[in-house]
Amino acid sequence: MSTDQQYPLASEPSAAGVQLNHTAVYASDRHLSAEFLAAVLGLRVGAPFGPFLPVDLGNGVTLDFYEKSDEPIQSQHYAFLVPEERFDPVVARLEALGVTYYADPAHTEPGRINRLFGGRGVYFDDPDGHNMEVMTRPYARP
Ligand SMILES: [Fe+2]
Repeated sequence: MSTDQQYPLASEPSAAGVQLNHTAVYASDRHLSAEFLAAVLGLRVGAPFGPFLPVDLGNGVTLDFYEKSDEPIQSQHYAFLVPEERFDPVVARLEALGVTYYADPAHTEPGRINRLFGGRGVYFDDPDGHNMEVMTRPYARP
């Protein structure tokens, strides 16, 4: 497919009714990774669904942890928006687990949080090196 190909657009493009429902999160050990994220965020790991181990989020999105053993796990970025009152417990659980957190996505400011967009945020790696972000304010996008 050429990069200059045009796609036919709907007559009136709209995001209404279109929601992310689930996505697979690749892991070398789905139990380890799902339980790690659930522990950090204060969530529960759901019952296995075939090869997937689900962690349900508060907005109806399911992260399906899926073991990928045929090639190295490619690091992805996942950002979680949490209410203000859940932020300090997240940081406390990271500290209790001995997980280094950072103020920035490049992980150059260890042990610090950021205050982007008038909120608070941290970055940390999951067991396979996925770059996780927890923040209390969504990005102010143009
Ligand atoms: Fe992000």
